[in-house]
Amino acid sequence: MSVTVLVGSQWGDEGKGKIVDLLSERYDVVVRYQGGANAGHTVEIGDKKYVLHLIPSGILRPGVVCVIGNGVVLDPEALLEEIKILEENGISVKGRLFISQNTHLIMPYHKLLDSISEKGKQKIGTTGRGIGPCYIDKYARRGIKINDLLNREMLKEKIRFNLEEKNALLKNIYNVEEMDIDAIINQYVEFDTTIDEYIKDVPSYLNSVIKEGKSVLLEGAQGTLLDVDFGTYPYVTSSHPTSGGACIGSGVAPTKITDVIGIVKAYTTRVGEGPFPTELTDETGEKLRKVGREFGATTGRPRRCGWFDAFLIKYSNMINGTTSVAITKLDVLDHFEEIKVCTGYEVDGRLLKTYPSDPLMMNRVKPVYTALPGWNTDTTGCRAYNDLPEATKDYLEFIAKEGDFKISIVSVGPERSQTFFV
Ligand code: GDP
Ligand code: IMO
Ligand code: MG
Repeated sequence: MSVTVLVGSQWGDEGKGKIVDLLSERYDVVVRYQGGANAGHTVEIGDKKYVLHLIPSGILRPGVVCVIGNGVVLDPEALLEEIKILEENGISVKGRLFISQNTHLIMPYHKLLDSISEKGKQKIGTTGRGIGPCYIDKYARRGIKINDLLNREMLKEKIRFNLEEKNALLKNIYNVEEMDIDAIINQYVEFDTTIDEYIKDVPSYLNSVIKEGKSVLLEGAQGTLLDVDFGTYPYVTSSHPTSGGACIGSGVAPTKITDVIGIVKAYTTRVGEGPFPTELTDETGEKLRKVGREFGATTGRPRRCGWFDAFLIKYSNMINGTTSVAITKLDVLDHFEEIKVCTGYEVDGRLLKTYPSDPLMMNRVKPVYTALPGWNTDTTGCRAYNDLPEATKDYLEFIAKEGDFKISIVSVGPERSQTFFV
C-alpha cells in the first residue's frame, strides 16, 4: 500500500502527466490537489496525445478512480469540455471521477480580472485561467464552492453579492464594462444538471480507501519554484504545488504519505516572467526549445530553456522531502556536444549556501557550471539503465550526486513505453 505524492521539482512542465500515467497502473486512486486549468499535462499513448488540464492523468488507465481535491480551483466549462473530449475518445469518466464538495469554482469574472491585472504594472505572465483571482476570493472567504451548485437560491445570492463588488471594481478602478449578473447566474445554475453527480465527500472517501489498503497517487500541478510560498515570489502561481499542498488540498494527513516522487526535467524550462538563473537566450536555448518541443501545453507559449540546475533541485527536494526522482526528457540532450550543469550560485564572487528567496538576490546570482561531454547517441530506444551510453550514465550520476537525489525512473521520449525504472 502506498500513498505517494508526485510533484514538479522545477517551474512546471517537467512531464508530470506522462509519469502519472505510467505509475497509475500501480495505483487505485489518483488525486489532483491544487491549481486548476492553468495546468497542461500531456500523455502520449501510441499515436494518441491527450492534454489534461483538470482531470488527473490517471483517467487514461481503465479502472483507476480519479479525484479532484478541495485544493483545486475548478472551471466548470473547462471541466465539461475535458470530459467531452475524453468520452469522445472512448474513455469513460462517469462513475470514475469525483470532485470534493469543498472545491472552489472559477467564475467568468476571475478570468477577466486575471487578464486585466496582467495588463497592469506587475506582469506575471499568467495562463489567464483566473487562478489568482479565484484563490483571492477563497481566502477572502467569499468564494463559491462546487457544493453551492446544490442550492440554487443560495448560489444566485452568492454570485450577485460577488458580482456587485466586482462590477464596482471593473467600472470604477479598471474602467471596463461591467459584467451581466443575470447571464452569469443563468450559466452557473445550469451546471447543477451536469456536475452534481461528481460531487463527493473526498476526505472521507480517500481516508476510507487508504484504510482498506488501497494505493493513492496525489498528482501535483505546476512546480516547486511556482509555489506561492516556496517559489520565486511574486513570479509564482497562487497555490501550493509542493508536497505539503497535497495534504491541505485533499484531506489526506501527512502521517499517511509514504513517499514523494519529484519529477525533474533533464534540463530546465520556465514559462512566464521571473528569475531563471540557468536560462540560455542564445542558440543553445533555441536548440533545447526546438528539440524538446518546448511550447506550453495550455497556452502554446514558447518556454524559456536552460541548463540543469542542481542547486535548485537540492532546494526543491528539501522542501518536498523527495524520496526519489523521475528524470524526464533525457533524450532531448542526445544532440549536444557539451552539456552544462549548474552546481551552485555565486554572488559577488561568493558561493551561496542556501537557495535565495529574495527576487533581487535571484537577479544577481551567477550560476556556477561544470561542463560534461555529450553522448551524441539516440537514447529514445533505451528501455533499461544499462542500455544508456556511458556518457549518459555519467551525466545522470553527476546530477544525482550534485542534486543529492536517487533516480527511480528515466524517461527517454514522450510515449508511454519510452520509460524505465532504475
Ligand atoms: P507536465 O505539465 O509536467 O505534465 O508536462 P507537459 O505535458 O506540460 O510538458 C511535457 C512535454 O514533454 C509534453 O509534450 C510531453 O509529451 C513531453 N515529454 C514527456 N516526457 C518526455 C521525454 O522523456 N522525452 C521527450 N522528448 N518528451 C517528453
Ligand atoms: P503544469 O501543471 C508551467 C506559470 C505561468 C505563470 C505563473 C502564474 O502544466 O506544469 P497562473 O495562471 O497559475 O496564475 O500563472 O505560473 N504556470 C505554469 N508554468 N506549467 C504549469 O502547469 C503552469 N501553471 C502556471 O506561466 O508564470
Ligand atoms: Mg504542463
